[in-house]
Amino acid sequence: MAGEIGRKTEHWGSRFGFIMASVGSAVGLGNFWRFPYTAGENGGGAFILFYIICVLLIGMPLLMAEYAMGRKSGMSAIEGIQSLARAESRSQNWGIAGWVGSLTSFFILSFYMVISTWLMAFLIQSFGGFEGMDASSSGQNFVDTIGQGEHPMRSRWYMLGLLALFLIANIIVVGRGVKGGIEKVATVLMPAFFIMLLVVVGFSIANGDTAKAVSFIFEPKWEDVGFKTFLAALGQAFFSLSIGVGLMITYGAYLEPDTNIPRSSGLIVASDTLVALIAGFAIFPIVFSAGLDPSSGPSLFFISMPVAFGSIPGGAIMAPVFFGLALFAAFTSSISLMEVAVSWLEERQGVTRLGASIGVGYVLFMIGAAYVFSLDYLDFMDFMTEGLLLPLGGLLASYFAGWVLSREMLTSELGEGTIMNAWRFLIRWFVPPFIFLILVFGFMDKIQDQYHVPLPGFLTMLLGPNWVPPAG
Ligand code: TRP
Repeated sequence: MAGEIGRKTEHWGSRFGFIMASVGSAVGLGNFWRFPYTAGENGGGAFILFYIICVLLIGMPLLMAEYAMGRKSGMSAIEGIQSLARAESRSQNWGIAGWVGSLTSFFILSFYMVISTWLMAFLIQSFGGFEGMDASSSGQNFVDTIGQGEHPMRSRWYMLGLLALFLIANIIVVGRGVKGGIEKVATVLMPAFFIMLLVVVGFSIANGDTAKAVSFIFEPKWEDVGFKTFLAALGQAFFSLSIGVGLMITYGAYLEPDTNIPRSSGLIVASDTLVALIAGFAIFPIVFSAGLDPSSGPSLFFISMPVAFGSIPGGAIMAPVFFGLALFAAFTSSISLMEVAVSWLEERQGVTRLGASIGVGYVLFMIGAAYVFSLDYLDFMDFMTEGLLLPLGGLLASYFAGWVLSREMLTSELGEGTIMNAWRFLIRWFVPPFIFLILVFGFMDKIQDQYHVPLPGFLTMLLGPNWVPPAG
């Protein structure tokens, strides 16, 4: 059966289009919504240092591996890995690596789309301006908007309507294919995104408390550092670079033979990291000048930013630009997440692209209908994917690329020489053991913190004492 599945025949329209689609996938809510508060909560500059280490030594080699395996096999994640395993006479069970990834991307998309829906609601609100909002009225506005406060049913119907719109847009784009849909949209939205980002950052730096923002972002707080920090940095790096789910295998399958994989990967990694660092400068200067708390978790985006925009001259114009650019970034990422499941259905089950997209979109809408009512579920999925499934997918993929595939197998993709030597060293000796250690210790540390599962004594020596319930 599997032998009948052919290589993809479609290719990216241009190298620029491929880069824009990849950057479009990488740059998203991870950079805007997640990175700033994760850094704030995990040691500021110390987190950023670990983050950059994870990006360069783990993320970059894995991204190259995914593209290389994709182009070599010409297929999406599950089929691609299986066909490479076959070529090396190894077990078909390696397809599991692709399975884990495809499931993970589906889970991620299921909470990603909910936050994107909030973004749409806030974009619409921002046209009316956020003037005169204070921390408490903005907090109330957030709960009301997402259907957890007053008039819950009315706002939930409204959110469901927005969710349907968002998914229909996804279905249309993904249904048109990689070149005709995803690439076209990314080539328009990403350049627009970069221009808008520069505008907002310029505004924020000119009008906000930039000195305080610099020290908040870059000053290391070593006392907050532990295994958890590494796990957070690793999970964030995977999430932000869109790796660990096999998506970039699929994107690699559409690559022309003459595109230079190491160079393109470098460009994509650099853009994504730059945007994450710059995003902090769109947010923190005006958050500080409005006298707000910087590390208030996910609500930074939806509670603090409206207050900040509402309290500053020109904020009424900048707020729609800010929420608009975040929505552009979220949309180009969500179409890539959807592509993982769609390309598999298309390849393996012989469904048309449009049919597959509609099916996936429908299931997502049903899940979304449940999500809109439950924030706990969202938290849980965020934790499961970043804390466990993404690193696990990355571990399997890197082990497969480094230890199961022979060097010769990927020479045609990555060339021979210094780059190949460095890549091969990292993907064999550094990436899998590092992910493994972080995964095991970081995960235990995190369940202790979050779910208060007591750890045995020898582990508390390494990870710090168990959680103690607050008195009273
Ligand atoms: N990278 C995107 C972000 O930072 C999210 C994303 C898109 C993603 N595609 C992915 C994450 C694939 C993991 C895997 O917002």
